[in-house]
Amino acid sequence: MSVIKVAILGFGTVGEGFYRTIQSHEEELKAVLGRKVEVAAVLIRNKQKERDINKEVIVTTDFTDILNLPQLDVVVEAIVDKDPTYSFLKKAIQRGCHIITANKEMFAHHGQELLELAKKHNVSVGYEATVAGGIPVIQTLRQLLNVNRVQQVQGILNGTSNFILTEMREKKLSFAEALRAAQENGFAEADPTNDVEGFDAFYKAMILSRLAFGEEPNWHDVERAGITSITSKLIDTAERLGLRFKHIAIIRKSGNQLTASVKPVLVGKEHPLYHVEGVQNAVNIYSDIVGQITLQGPGAGMFPTASAVIEDLVYVCQNRPVTQGLTPTKEINAGSQELIQQE
Ligand code: NDP
Ligand code: HSE
Repeated sequence: MSVIKVAILGFGTVGEGFYRTIQSHEEELKAVLGRKVEVAAVLIRNKQKERDINKEVIVTTDFTDILNLPQLDVVVEAIVDKDPTYSFLKKAIQRGCHIITANKEMFAHHGQELLELAKKHNVSVGYEATVAGGIPVIQTLRQLLNVNRVQQVQGILNGTSNFILTEMREKKLSFAEALRAAQENGFAEADPTNDVEGFDAFYKAMILSRLAFGEEPNWHDVERAGITSITSKLIDTAERLGLRFKHIAIIRKSGNQLTASVKPVLVGKEHPLYHVEGVQNAVNIYSDIVGQITLQGPGAGMFPTASAVIEDLVYVCQNRPVTQGLTPTKEINAGSQELIQQE
């Protein structure tokens, strides 16, 4: 039986979770793909770190070793920063590999270029893990809401921020204590500034915007704030009033105008995101046919993210045309926005 050869870039929370899931779900993968999946190589930065990786797997700090593998079908990227990640993935596509990424910062900046390049080379791009951890929101928008006119997408998109706000309220932890717990659990970014200052949720919101509306607002026009100004005192006061702080990204189409904001918001019990707690994320979509849908689930962490990546592996190997993920609803969404306006 032929095999599907995969390279993993990065072996931290996400890369290792994916590697372990390939092993624990070998039979399921074989059943759905008809072929065994094998990890051929792993790219890391520090060769001195102890890692639990089979000895047949090439472990390297040089991306050229990966590109030169005799067989390579899929490159899964779980490293940090935009560079050199973007150039690695471009080279992987040019070599004819499907790519999968968990890196929202890179994908928000370069996703369109990668999707277009992939289309030229007839390969697929999976990016489910870039938004909302284990929640299959990309597949939902890409495959299940093609005819609906999406009018608004709002969500809690950063697990670390929601976890910190919940721990401060429920356990009375300080901001620093709650952030440390998020880091220990592998939820936070290596540099948590992007989490707590709202950049991570902003990148995710831009990826969702592109998919749901076929376009993004001008990044400079998006109001962005993180949770660093939310003190324990503010949280307690809100709680006494029956309110909670939630860090919410919202993208709304009104007529031809697309607007977005990413910031902490005070919400009451009737709000669809009020009960989303801890590392959970949720995405609430309004569209004209179905009305309102809320998807909720774990927004970060090793296995929730591995779930998104492994489902992407099936998606790219089944080689659906990448155009389905590109700009599906731009023209349609220029239409009416009555539902939101009636609210
Ligand atoms: P970690 O910090 O845990 O791991 C990063 C890994 O990438 C490490 O193995 C590191 O190598 C390697 N690495 C970093 N830079 C380079 C480089 N230039 N060349 C080669 N290897 C490199 O990060 P996570 O696993 O948490 O996150 C990875 C990506 O996934 C990020 O983009 C993040 O935003 C995204 N993500 C994270 C989620 C989470 O819950 N943690 C969820 C969804 C997405 P070494 O081990 O040698 O240091
Ligand atoms: N640091 C991110 C978060 C990881 O806390 O949501 C998931 O994208």
